[in-house]
Amino acid sequence: MTAEETSDARDRGDAEAVLSVRDLTVGFGSNIVLDKLNLDIFRGEILGFVGASGTGKSVLMRTVLRLLPRRSGSIKILGAEYDAVSEEERVELDMRLGVLFQHGALFSSLTVMENIQVPMREYLDLPQDLMDELARLKIELVGLAPEAAHKFPSELSGGMIKRAALARALALDPDLVFLDEPTSGLDPIGAAEFDELIAKLRDTLGLTVYMVTHDLDSLFSVCDRIAVLGQKRVLVEGTIEDMLAFDDEWVQAYFQGKRARSIVPQDKRPS
Ligand SMILES: Nc1ncnc2c1ncn2[C@@H]1O[C@H](COP(=O)(O)OP(=O)(O)OP(=O)(O)O)[C@@H](O)[C@H]1O
Ligand SMILES: [Mg+2]
Repeated sequence: MTAEETSDARDRGDAEAVLSVRDLTVGFGSNIVLDKLNLDIFRGEILGFVGASGTGKSVLMRTVLRLLPRRSGSIKILGAEYDAVSEEERVELDMRLGVLFQHGALFSSLTVMENIQVPMREYLDLPQDLMDELARLKIELVGLAPEAAHKFPSELSGGMIKRAALARALALDPDLVFLDEPTSGLDPIGAAEFDELIAKLRDTLGLTVYMVTHDLDSLFSVCDRIAVLGQKRVLVEGTIEDMLAFDDEWVQAYFQGKRARSIVPQDKRPS
């Protein structure tokens, strides 16, 4: 299978793309990180985004969130062309996006509850008791105990920090959430529980999830579709079967390596 063939996966009939990136080029000085990259995410799906370390997964996420400038290309998000919207509409768009960053997931000087309220304070003008009530709901939603509300990040386990960061990403009831390596650093059981939570939230809240991950278990268990970043663009996007059939050394080593073989179900392995 070639990249051209798999790109047909983008023509998904009436499926609504909530994010469409076209011909995106991003670089730092002479270092071009992304070169004419194309990517779509469809409503209600969990897209797993993989690629070797340093290939630009975080850069892409930050560019889509307008935290980094792009050299060229277009980004359409939730039906709006970024370049064409007013500042007011941009704020409204930003409110519909939730983010869990790879590093520095929480403010260390704020409690869990205060962390969750950061986006509320930034975008909404709500009385404190209502914000407290909303934060408590988010804490419950991500499976944290009520006592976690008044703890500082240093008092939490790695898994609890990830859940609290997810609660903050969900603070404004977003349509689309970006998760950068949400299960890194968690033990396999903690990671699997986090994956289950993501799938449950997608099902109950109708979220669309863009998840950067190195975690093969996540890719196999919760992701509907996978996109691989390589050679400064999306090399291939599709199902696990598409990955296994894709003729590229890195993709083969990643999805068919020793680690993968212990995870890929027998019936999904190419014969
Ligand atoms: N603010 C920046 N200024 C200059 N170069 C940067 C900046 N941010 C990222 N880069 C460079 O862009 C490239 C891609 O980095 P990025 O963090 O996106 O990788 P990644 O795919 O997320 O890797 P990892 O899997 O390790 O998180 C790297 O070469 C990095 O050095
Ligand atoms: Mg990264």
